[in-house]
Amino acid sequence: MDEHVDRGRRRLLIAATAGTGALGVAFAAVPFILSWNPSARARALGAPVEIDPSKIEPGSMVRVAWRGQPIYVVNRTPEVLRQIGDHNALLVDPNSNDSQQPAYIKATGAVRARIPKYWVGLGVCTHLGCAPLGAFEPGRSEQLPGVELGAGWPGGFYCPCHGSKYDISGRVFKDMPAPRNLTIPPYAYAKNGHIVIGVNQVSDDAG
Ligand code: FES
Repeated sequence: MDEHVDRGRRRLLIAATAGTGALGVAFAAVPFILSWNPSARARALGAPVEIDPSKIEPGSMVRVAWRGQPIYVVNRTPEVLRQIGDHNALLVDPNSNDSQQPAYIKATGAVRARIPKYWVGLGVCTHLGCAPLGAFEPGRSEQLPGVELGAGWPGGFYCPCHGSKYDISGRVFKDMPAPRNLTIPPYAYAKNGHIVIGVNQVSDDAG
């Protein structure tokens, strides 16, 4: 087995482990979140989920559930962030005009994140709803077993169902089955640096 596959598997194991930890954080944080006294409407839509992004290894991601949907949180490396705007011509909707995200995310352009280092998005392919895989290492077209990502791969996501490719900000490449960029949910940063998924501002939920 080549070392690339080994590294890929290790990364998946790390991500799975980190994901378990993040869920633990989410549930452990319940008393803190409840102290924000969410509105009746917010409670009806589903409680926010909090994760500590400092637990995510660079170049990997964790998955958490929010409102019954998978949310990906990726720790993007400086290398992948440096080239994030270089492939806009290859994308269907580089400015996310026809994609779903809060206005404060759209305003960040290619980064599509409140803080560039951490990308938060819905892990649901916009074609038929499969879960895209992370392929976060730029320049490595063979990092997923049996998948050729193509020369000049900038780092991103690959959907195993019908082959859609997204960049590291969840922006879909041209000529893919998926029509739109990955959706980004509302989220905010708490004072302790944790990401709170499901609110536009932490103060939104102050009673
Ligand atoms: S569901 Fe992702 S490409 Fe079809």
